[in-house]
Parts: sequence; structure tokens; C-alpha cells
Amino acid sequence: GRVAAVVPAAGSSERMGSVTPKQYIEVCGRPLVTYCLEALQSVEWMSRVVVVADDLARMREVVRGAALSKVTVIQGGGSRHRSIRVGVEALAAEEDPPDVVVVHDGARPIVPLHTLAQVVVMAQRHGAAGAVRSLVSTVVMPDAQDFLEESLVRSQYRNSEMPQAFRFGVLRDAYRKCSDEEADYGTECLALALRHCRVKAKLVPGTPQLWKVTEEKDLEVARALLPRLTR
Ligand code: CTP
Ligand code: MG
Repeated sequence: GRVAAVVPAAGSSERMGSVTPKQYIEVCGRPLVTYCLEALQSVEWMSRVVVVADDLARMREVVRGAALSKVTVIQGGGSRHRSIRVGVEALAAEEDPPDVVVVHDGARPIVPLHTLAQVVVMAQRHGAAGAVRSLVSTVVMPDAQDFLEESLVRSQYRNSEMPQAFRFGVLRDAYRKCSDEEADYGTECLALALRHCRVKAKLVPGTPQLWKVTEEKDLEVARALLPRLTR
């Protein structure tokens, strides 16, 4: 089947604390978002990539600068879910929508090909799939006064990472049924597929390179890893 990708890259990087949104910060001479766009573009079975941006002119400049022929740029929304929904609707409006859609954050420069292929195959089979990692630290829940209320058993949980993949109709319908409140407060696409389409996502163990650039120190990690892993 035909596969397309949606790359949400319209965030404002509050946790990074930078003036420049992290997707545009130069890492080893190129804007951060370039790395995942290039990785997705270079996959021969990827038909096209929609990158969802806060600043259309700026993102178009990035795409032009890297000669990314499969990539189109559209205007994002006020939350991650809203941005992805805009990207999915752009694909839905096309003459020939894809069979499978991959979602990958613009702030995740490394896209392991093996994991990407696995989530696509699992999405074709089960409707939805996403990469996960074992937890590094135990998750605890504080009460309103910051006293420990609950502690989760670490081995029973996973961190949800990217890429994720969906049968196109599953993600499209999940977002069409998603309420505005969910679109503003949630972050997990796999949960929308379960809640609105009763599709239970297959979770695929990913590699340590699947992390997301979130805080300033992650830029140093990216600067150390990218020259070795992507050229
Ligand atoms: N994203 C988006 N539209 C939004 C918010 C986030 O497309 N309104 C994207 C980000 O650009 C990023 C991905 O979703 O590629 C993952 O989000 P996150 O790491 O939270 O990025 P930011 O929201 O920019 O960062 P922060 O939460 O620290 O503000
Ligand atoms: Mg965010």
C-alpha cells in the first residue's frame, strides 16, 4: 500500500526555553527538522511527507534549502493533536489518499529504518502501531501538595516514542471524532485510535536513538550523535 508521513513541527519549544523554536535550531550546520525530513524522504516507499509548521515561510525555506522533493509544508495548529489533524486532513483532501500514514515528530532527528518499517507493517496488520522504550525512571503520581500518592511498577510500563503508523482511515476518523478538549490536552495518537476507533495499537520496542529533543541538553546529545549516525 501507499505510505505517507505527517511531521508535526509547529510547537513553540517551551521546555527548551529558546527564542528560536527547536525545529529551526542549527545542529551540525542544518536546522534540526531537516534530519527527520531527509530520513523520511530517503525511504523509497515513502510517497510524500507533510510537515506541519508554525511559520510557513521559514519552513518552506528549510525544505527548499535541503532540496526535499517529497515534502510539502502546511500551517499548524495550537496543540500537537491539532497540528497532526491538519496534516491528516491535508492528505484526506488529496485525490488519492495514502493507505498508511506515519507520524513522526520534527524534534526527533533520528528515524531508525528498521523501526519505521516495523510500525508500518504492524499498522497494516493491526490498524495502528508505535515505537516504545522501557522506562529509565519509575513513574510516580504526586498529590496536590506534592506528596507521593501512587507509584507505578516500572517494568509494566513503556515510554511512547515515534514513529507511529496507522491505517489512514483509522487516524483520520480518530481525529474527526476527537473533541476539542482532547485535542488540546492529550498528546497520544495511539490512545485516540483506541478510544475512537477501537483499534488496539501494536507496541514495537524501539532503539535508544528514538529520543525527542526537548531540553537544551538534548541539543548537545544531537550534536554528538548526528554526525555519526546519519551521514
Ligand atoms: N507540535 C506541533 N504543534 C504544536 C505543538 C507541538 O506540531 N502546537 C510538535 C512539535 O513541533 C514537536 C512535536 O509536536 O515536533 C513534539 O512536541 P514537543 O516536544 O512537546 O514540542 P513543543 O511543543 O514545541 O515543546 P514544548 O512542549 O516544550 O513547548
Ligand atoms: Mg509540547
